[in-house]
Amino acid sequence: MRKEQALEQRYERIHKQLQELLKKPGNQLSKMATVVALLHHKMPHYFWTGFYLLDQGRLIAGPYQGPVACQELEKGKGVCWASILQEKSLIVNNVDEFPGHIACSTQSKSEIVVPLRNKSGSIAGVLDVDSKSTDDFTKTDQKGLEMILDLLRETQA
Ligand code: SME
Repeated sequence: MRKEQALEQRYERIHKQLQELLKKPGNQLSKMATVVALLHHKMPHYFWTGFYLLDQGRLIAGPYQGPVACQELEKGKGVCWASILQEKSLIVNNVDEFPGHIACSTQSKSEIVVPLRNKSGSIAGVLDVDSKSTDDFTKTDQKGLEMILDLLRETQA
């Protein structure tokens, strides 16, 4: 089986598992923690996995797994803010080539950032995943993560 096909199937299995785990009405932060824990432990290429959430115009670390990261990201700078301002998912193949990239860990070499929307459609923050290798995220990761964040929005109380 091709690598991308295996990855796609893995995202589908995680999505299915999350459909069960997130369907009970509950706290949105604990649902985010569930998403992050599952993804981080099932995806071998994930080195840091977590949410950054908008809070009164600031971008603050939410639930995450991996090494200790920046608690707040400087406004308008870096990949997470770029994803919020452009309202779209971003794949950065080599973080050293992204102007203004914020390096919470020097071990991160590539990353993917996907916007998280509220039920109303407004952006609540982002999911950020880092890898220790360059070129480690593809459109398959993007599609899988967008599908999972849609689920988080749909199951929001
Ligand atoms: N690299 C991100 C900051 C968050 S850390 O990767 C965990 C950015 O440039 O926004």
